Amino acid sequence: MSKETFKRRAFIGLVSKTTVIGLATSPLSSLAIYTEHKKPNADHVFLTKPYLQNPGPDVITIMWITARNAYSWVEYQTEAGDIIKNHAVTDGMVDANNQIHRIALQDLKPGTRYSYTAFSKEIVDYQPYQITYGTTISSEKYEFITPVLNAKSMAMLIINDIHDRPNSIPHLMTLNGNDPFDFVFFNGDMFNFQKDQQQIIQNMLNPCTDTFASTKPFMYIRGNHETRGKFARQLPTYFNNINGTQYFSFSRGPVHFIALDTGEDKEDEAPVYAGLIDFDAYRKKQAVWLEQQLQSNAYKKAIFKVVLMHIPHYHSGDWHGTMHCREVFGPLFNKYKIDLMISGHTHKYGIHKAQEGHDFPIVIGGGPQDGKRTLIKLKANERSLHLSMIKDDGQEVGTYEIKR
Ligand SMILES: [Fe+2]
Repeated sequence: MSKETFKRRAFIGLVSKTTVIGLATSPLSSLAIYTEHKKPNADHVFLTKPYLQNPGPDVITIMWITARNAYSWVEYQTEAGDIIKNHAVTDGMVDANNQIHRIALQDLKPGTRYSYTAFSKEIVDYQPYQITYGTTISSEKYEFITPVLNAKSMAMLIINDIHDRPNSIPHLMTLNGNDPFDFVFFNGDMFNFQKDQQQIIQNMLNPCTDTFASTKPFMYIRGNHETRGKFARQLPTYFNNINGTQYFSFSRGPVHFIALDTGEDKEDEAPVYAGLIDFDAYRKKQAVWLEQQLQSNAYKKAIFKVVLMHIPHYHSGDWHGTMHCREVFGPLFNKYKIDLMISGHTHKYGIHKAQEGHDFPIVIGGGPQDGKRTLIKLKANERSLHLSMIKDDGQEVGTYEIKR
């Protein structure tokens, strides 16, 4: 990542240049020669608003998509601070000539409000020794707040099993009212199967940015349905989880979270997968990682310990995915005494108290049809963790509380 601070006036002068041919000042100085088109290209547009990913006390990632290849950057600032410009660099090269933009901001101050704007300068032609730029488009200015270090409380919203119903996202978000929350967690099966980029934009990214995602981050783990379809292997390109993986752990306030990728629901050898999946080995690999997390100081220190995974290892039938999760993850959850699991998958919401097999409650969010969808609200402070499950008609259909 490279970063430079400069006065806004000088920067605007640089980016709004139109017909100049010649050497550029930083950050374009790595290019020997570039030209810029006078005529704006009507096709050079944002396909999404910016959406926030990978939040931490001192980091956040801003992503967006453009219709044309571009060089992209973010300008951001604290209320009193200078404007800072950041673009992404991979292996010594500035990310450019691409359409899915992912700019990580680092060294942020915890508990601080930042404003930001996303910029994309079209790359009209990319020759080995001559780059032709087009015009620059910019987003609106948005704000986000970094989490406080060692915060005493936290609040999150959990949504699962939307299954390609874009209106469900704003609908469920509305049920939260004006209750403050830090981030949204998508607990799998947002889609039926992966078709193309347009589906990801229309059915998830746009409904998210229309309601919250330009100012509040979301995290996302796959369900079994996201592993299906011809575009399934491209899906991770559109998101940026903590650690950049499909399974991850993080602490927020008094809670330590572990998010697992439960994979497919049928055996790897099932004919519908045509020999192209290998989830048994993947779940076993995650089990090794899971035990390391459960032995970590962050986990031990946390007041509350919560696991998020799409397929619950109980109360979800006896297909292979459920049973394999039960075999490889189940004993670890009991041994290291997690407090709570939050899942989806069954489309039947419910709170299953601790019982034989699982020494902790399993909360399952519903979906995807009217009357079955849920929003789960999770809040915690140093004294208690409180979960509330709200059905799509606004009725609270379950609560669970853990006292310290
Ligand atoms: Fe599912």
